[in-house]
Amino acid sequence: MHMSNISILVMNGPNLSRLGKREPEVYGRRTLDDINKGLVEAFPDVRFEFFQSEYEGALLDKLFAIEDQGGFAGVVLNAGALTHYSIALRDAINAVKIPVVEVHLSNIYAREEFRHKSVISAVCAGVIGGFGADSYHLGVRGLLGMLG
Ligand code: DQA
Repeated sequence: MHMSNISILVMNGPNLSRLGKREPEVYGRRTLDDINKGLVEAFPDVRFEFFQSEYEGALLDKLFAIEDQGGFAGVVLNAGALTHYSIALRDAINAVKIPVVEVHLSNIYAREEFRHKSVISAVCAGVIGGFGADSYHLGVRGLLGMLG
């Protein structure tokens, strides 16, 4: 598959809309918009769609919508805190055939104990964390590599 035919959904969960002003010592000073623009610049041949929601159900709806729509090669997902407890999100990732890469800005294993567990990792195609905005870039790279 030529890269320009590849569509990737970059999906962010709760609180990631606040990047830039939210705990910059943990998450950096870049806004979500900055991160998304960085992806478009770094991967000019990839067609990106960006989606963020504070609501668990909206993320599930989006996953099912892109599956039904077709044409999406993969998803790069920062599920925020839902990572640690949303069995509904896990089941939705498992329900779709599109590969989902779990990404985190921070290294969740170097933080509070409640962040050490991800309930979605086991149903994701790969997991990346700790590289700030670069985690998203590495997630896209990983997906492209998987897709050949
Ligand atoms: C996060 C880590 C989560 O523990 C936290 O709830 C977030 C962001 C990250 O990108 O490092 O909202 O997913």
